[in-house]
Parts: sequence; structure tokens; C-alpha cells
Amino acid sequence: MKRKAAGVLSLGDYEALARAHLPRPLFGYVAGACEDNLTVAANREAMRRVAFVSRVLRDMAGRTQQLSLFGENWSSPFGIAPMGLSALIAMRGDIALARAAHAENVPMLLSATSLIRLEEVRTVSPSCWFQAYLPADRDWIDGVVDRVTKAGFGTLVISVDVPVLGNRENLIRERFSTPLKPSLRLALDGVLHPRWLLGTFAPTLLRHGMPAFENSSATRGAPVIARNVERSFGQRDRLTWDGIRHIRDRWRGNLVIKGLLHAEDASLARSVGADAIILSNHGGRQLDGAIATLDALPGAVAAAGDMPVLIDSGFRRGSDILKAIALGARMVLIGRPFLYAAAVHGEAGVRHAIGLLRAEIDRNMALLGTKSLDELGPDYLHRTDGAAI
Ligand SMILES: Cc1cc2nc3c(=O)[nH]c(=O)nc-3n(C[C@H](O)[C@H](O)[C@H](O)COP(=O)(O)O)c2cc1C
Repeated sequence: MKRKAAGVLSLGDYEALARAHLPRPLFGYVAGACEDNLTVAANREAMRRVAFVSRVLRDMAGRTQQLSLFGENWSSPFGIAPMGLSALIAMRGDIALARAAHAENVPMLLSATSLIRLEEVRTVSPSCWFQAYLPADRDWIDGVVDRVTKAGFGTLVISVDVPVLGNRENLIRERFSTPLKPSLRLALDGVLHPRWLLGTFAPTLLRHGMPAFENSSATRGAPVIARNVERSFGQRDRLTWDGIRHIRDRWRGNLVIKGLLHAEDASLARSVGADAIILSNHGGRQLDGAIATLDALPGAVAAAGDMPVLIDSGFRRGSDILKAIALGARMVLIGRPFLYAAAVHGEAGVRHAIGLLRAEIDRNMALLGTKSLDELGPDYLHRTDGAAI
């Protein structure tokens, strides 16, 4: 593994490797966003607009990036965002991600559209969280909540930014759909990517059968490759704060709402009893033109009071993470690069990626002159556009 990882110096390096490794529609599914990619660009631009003002000549020995959340101590202020279809992209992808996160003591969020049964993932990684997409239908909600409870999860994340799917034109261009439709072109694409075909797809089929959407509801859903099967989503566009109140009454563990951007929604989440929120524009995959999450952060933090605010979308470096922490985020989630790492180098690749980020944070804390995450605040930051921090 050391040899394989030698050339991977930053999370960004995994993208090029994954592009070569994966069939086109699959790489397109992970890398893509929607419409004109305005939000993807806004996420990066917002990070560029914030600069550090470091402090010097402080004793930096014993600095730590540990933090506590929901009564647990985590080794770094970042985790792995929920990503659907990971087990089609990487060999046993959800398990590779969950094991790596558990070993490195950072959270991993198992997606509602994952392809390995949540009970199995929870067994190999007791620290992972489960993310659900839920419709308004109370029987559907109760079925999922009860299943996740029975499996022993401590944290349930409800993603609320997909009432309908974003306009992902790139998926149409790449001929990607869920389920994927079998075609000569898809088969040829597989043959042209033999490492994926022989290292992920073929062994998955041989050992585990055709993957299916295992965790979207209380029972098994559609297979991931099928000609004439429609996936059932229920009426997700009818879920409201009332539904969240109902979930709060039924779910005894930590409840997290993912996919908020507005300060008033942060405050509503708190008032219905959420234990934390995740500011997210879904990595630019839903509403194109949505505000960068870093720009939404100060308002949400002010509205959230003592409720922890987590954040994702476009974070790639330890420095990006430290900017969010200085603006009041408790933790940052990262999506695509971890899935690329799992695709090309499996669990060891994900651990390597976690190690790279951790080293960047540690180095930058020393360069910034801060020994703990609590010390970081807006006084370490400057807005290059002259706006107030
Ligand atoms: C391939 C892929 C699948 C995703 N699937 C889900 C999902 O099932 N549930 C969810 O809440 N978010 C999903 N997301 C969004 C991520 O959780 C996260 O918000 C986003 O990827 C963060 O941006 P980043 O990839 O730029 O780090 C997905 C993102 C990607 C890239």
C-alpha cells in the first residue's frame, strides 16, 4: 500500500486516479454536480475569500485536533459524508469507508442509497451514523426508524435537501441512471476499465450477487442494474417539519438534519429538538446557484445557539476545514475524495486520505499558532473582499 500511496500527496490526487479507474458513467455520477456548476464554484470561491491571519512565537507542543461531539471523542474534526452507490464504485465501498473511519476514529455516515445492508455495516463499524431520505408517509418513516434503532445506530441523519432530484444533466449525457440500464456501451465501458471490472464489479456479483438499494426503506429495494425496474422514493417532497417532529418523538438517539442553508431553518431544527445540523448544498448536486456553505455558516451558527453545526460541500484541505472551525463549525464532512480513495485503493486508500488531511490540520494549527480547535475563532481570519468576518 505504501508504494501505491506514494504519489498521492493530497486528496485532490485521488480524483485523477479515479477518473482513469472508473467506467465513465460511474466517475460522472461521483464527480458531477448539476446544471451550470455554479454552486460547486461558489463553494471553492468562498474558501478562497477567507484568509488566515496567523500568530507566532507560541509554544505549539502538545497541540491537538481532537474534539467531542455527542459525548464521544473524535480524533479529527472531519468525517465521511454519506454517498450512495459506494459499493458499485469501490469493492464493498460502504464497508471500506466505514472500517477506515472506525480505525481512524472519525465519523462515517452510511447513505440511505447504499448497497450493503445497514445491519452489516454497523457490525463492522459500530461508530458509524445512518443517513435517511424520508418521505412524509408515516409508515415508511416508522419502518426506517425502527430498523435503524434495532441495528443499534446511535445517530440518525435526515437529509432534507432532496425533495426532488437536482437537474443533473451530466448524468443524462453519461447515460447514468439508477438502476443502471444494461447496454452494450455499459459493458464495453466496463471492459475498458479492467481493474474496476475485475477488482470491484465481478467479485461483487460473484460473492454477493447483484447489489440492490438495501437501506432506503424497511425492506430491500430495486437492484442497481436492471432494465425495467423503477425505484420507489415515496413522496419526499411532502416531508415537513411536522414529519421531523414525528421522527424526533420516535427516535431516541442523536438526531441530525442535513441539507440546511438558511439561518431560520437552523433555528427551526433546534426548536424541533435536533441535536445537530449539517449545512450542505449537497456538494452542488441539488439547487444550482445555492449559497456556498461557508458563506451560510456564520448566520447558521448564530441561530443554532448551543446546537452543534456541521458543514460540508467542497472542503478538500486541512486549511479549508480550519476556516470552517474558526467560523463556528464543530466538524466538516467530505464526500467525493474519500470515495475516489476507496475506489482506487480500498480501505487503505481511505485511511491514507484521512491521514493526509489530519497531517494538514496538524501542520496548519502549528503555523496558525493554535493548540486546540476551541482556540480558533474569527480573529484568525480576514475576508479578502473587505466584508466583515
Ligand atoms: C456520489 C455521491 C453520492 C451522494 N449520496 C448522498 C446520499 O445518499 N445522501 C446524502 O445525504 N448526501 C449524498 N451526497 C452528498 C454528500 O453527502 C455531501 O453532501 C457532498 O458530497 C459534500 O460535498 P463534497 O463531495 O464536495 O465533499 C452524495 C454525494 C456524492 C458525491
